[in-house]
Amino acid sequence: MASKMTLLASVLVVMLMHLQSLEAQQPNLVKGLSWKYYESSCPKLESIIRKQLEKVIKKDVGLAAALLRMHFHDCFVQGCDGSVLLDGSASGPVDSEKTAPPNLSLRGFDVIEDLRRRVHKECGAGSVSCADITAIVARDSIVLTGGPTYSVPLGRRDGLSFATRDATLANLPSPFVPTDNLLRTLAAKNFDATDAVALSGAHTIGIAHCSSFTRRLYPTQDTTLDKTFATTLKGVCPAPNTNASTFMDLRSPNVFDNKYFVDLMNKQGLLTSDQDLYTDKRTRNIVTSFAVNQTLFFEKFVNVMIKMGQMEVLTGTQGEVRNKCSVQNSNDLLISSVVEGDNMDSVESF
Ligand SMILES: *[C@@H]1O[C@H](CO)[C@@H](O)[C@H](O)[C@H]1NC(C)=O
Ligand SMILES: *[C@@H]1O[C@H](CO)[C@@H](O)[C@H](O)[C@H]1NC(C)=O
Ligand SMILES: *[C@@H]1O[C@H](CO)[C@@H](O)[C@H](O)[C@H]1NC(C)=O
Repeated sequence: MASKMTLLASVLVVMLMHLQSLEAQQPNLVKGLSWKYYESSCPKLESIIRKQLEKVIKKDVGLAAALLRMHFHDCFVQGCDGSVLLDGSASGPVDSEKTAPPNLSLRGFDVIEDLRRRVHKECGAGSVSCADITAIVARDSIVLTGGPTYSVPLGRRDGLSFATRDATLANLPSPFVPTDNLLRTLAAKNFDATDAVALSGAHTIGIAHCSSFTRRLYPTQDTTLDKTFATTLKGVCPAPNTNASTFMDLRSPNVFDNKYFVDLMNKQGLLTSDQDLYTDKRTRNIVTSFAVNQTLFFEKFVNVMIKMGQMEVLTGTQGEVRNKCSVQNSNDLLISSVVEGDNMDSVESF
């Protein structure tokens, strides 16, 4: 009897372990997306992107962070529908905007459009959406700077409308806010504290402008800021509105690793929204666990990227597949009223 119970118990344990490992390998897919969406229609899609991005990022490693951020911005504002790429969107391509809309200092639009051109040349116009290209580009930017790889769910369609300035502002976490705000903003989008800390770990690469952190220096110095680090930052930004920038992860600025969390433990996080993750009791232990275990960070980061990459996606016959990432296929529908913008540097960090 006892041995029967033991056998049953061990069978259950094995089954549970099996279930867990399946879950780890196959995160939930949103209806309409698939791991092999372009397998027959554009088999070379991922290799075309990877090969070209290798060259691009080798020349300008800073683009990796910019391209990763592009995907964040796309997904957080009205879902991953490529709307961030549209001329006239609040954070869209800068030089194409005649009416000086708010500027979120995104860059890399030209890289995405160039990849779109290469992909469509190989697989035909209308073959692959700009939203999917942006998602693959984000994954490759992570991989090419040393981060973890993962499969990208595919089959997103491109949106027909761009997000307004207000929607953009309302949906992007600000660099000035404490963890409490960050957690609330992200909880509204179904991300938990672990997701929030893992997502913040994207700041292991990339830069931020003075305007995003000088309020931690002037008029009074933030007590959660390491003194030596503060002195360095004052050198970069001698005044609050200095037009300069610095790396977000001082230990390994261009490598996708877990050093960002080590920075936080040493009071060397650049933004308020970074450093406060180590002050807030709800996230402090998560920061520590990532700082001591990069594998754990990578695992949680991959989870949250796959989750984020499926936010409010358009699939099936919704939206369209754009022939050019910066304009809808029927230009007639272009909304011409672009809102006048002030300086939007305040949301640049995410
Ligand atoms: C807009 O963003 C671009 C790209 O980062 C930057 O060069 C430019 O200075 C920004 N303009 C304003 C007004 O912030
Ligand atoms: C400030 O920086 C932006 C982008 O980096 C640049 O376009 C602009 O010319 C700079 N302004 C000054 C006064 O240096
Ligand atoms: C680090 O995290 C991984 C992934 O969760 C786990 O398998 C491993 O045991 C952890 N390593 C240590 C030393 O705790």
